[in-house]
Amino acid sequence: MTHKLSFKSLSVSIGNHRILHNVSGNCLSGTVTAVIGANGAGKSTLLKALTGEIAYLGTVRLGELNVAACSPILLALHRGVLPQQTSLAFPLSVDEVVRLGQIVPADELVLQTRRLAALEKVGMQAFVTRQYHDLSGGEQQRVQMARVLAQMETACDPFNENPKWLFLDEPVSSLDIRHQIQIMNIAREFANRGGGVFAIMHDLNLTAHYADQVLVLKGGQLIASGSVSETVESNVLSEAYDHPVLVNRTPPSEVPFVLPLASHA
Ligand SMILES: Nc1ncnc2c1ncn2[C@@H]1O[C@H](COP(=O)(O)OP(=O)(O)O)[C@@H](O)[C@H]1O
Ligand SMILES: [Mg+2]
Repeated sequence: MTHKLSFKSLSVSIGNHRILHNVSGNCLSGTVTAVIGANGAGKSTLLKALTGEIAYLGTVRLGELNVAACSPILLALHRGVLPQQTSLAFPLSVDEVVRLGQIVPADELVLQTRRLAALEKVGMQAFVTRQYHDLSGGEQQRVQMARVLAQMETACDPFNENPKWLFLDEPVSSLDIRHQIQIMNIAREFANRGGGVFAIMHDLNLTAHYADQVLVLKGGQLIASGSVSETVESNVLSEAYDHPVLVNRTPPSEVPFVLPLASHA
């Protein structure tokens, strides 16, 4: 069953400052939507509005749910959020961080098996007893991803009857190339199983490779949206980033690759 994340006339203001202006769009379960744009374009603000973490004007619907009217626990059953930054106030082990995602009670042995499986997916199973604070930035990011995956596995609805959504804010920003591909493959697999993926991306080449739909934000407005070939394109990107960008295609896949033009003064 296809399921839609739809948002209409979304605006967010903080104080007197309008951060998001009248943004509308639709994302389908079973697909990966990437959001791109310069620093400060409003990407994280859009994600926080869609996940119900900040107040907004307009409407957000996640399938049948009106996000603004949902309790945190109901939302947590339907979507997992990987924030751009995560600070932990308490000294927790890796296993305890992943356990934070397990919001539905179950037999402890089952939960433990799922936590290990989630850590294995992100290649962090050997770190299960380690202190989270002692890990590198990239390792912490992968543990946070395991927490979100554990949350989605624990949520009680069968996956296909009520698709779930992953909201990922720069999920690969601290990762080396192998782990970037690993995490993006997990996102792709989640979509292939019928879930929805909404990911903020900085790497335009990974975006071109993995996204089914791309939303381009600039100054809090949606300046373009569509397929990779419609959006990962030199005019759109040069405007989005206020910087000349060259886009080329390599056979045999013809996936675009992006080269920001460097200038040497
Ligand atoms: N709580 C806040 N108070 C004031 N300004 C904010 C707040 N949150 C975000 N902003 C501003 O809104 C703009 C968009 O922020 P953000 O959505 O985080 O951008 P990004 O596209 O880099 O994720 C930025 O200029 C940021 O400084
Ligand atoms: Mg951001």
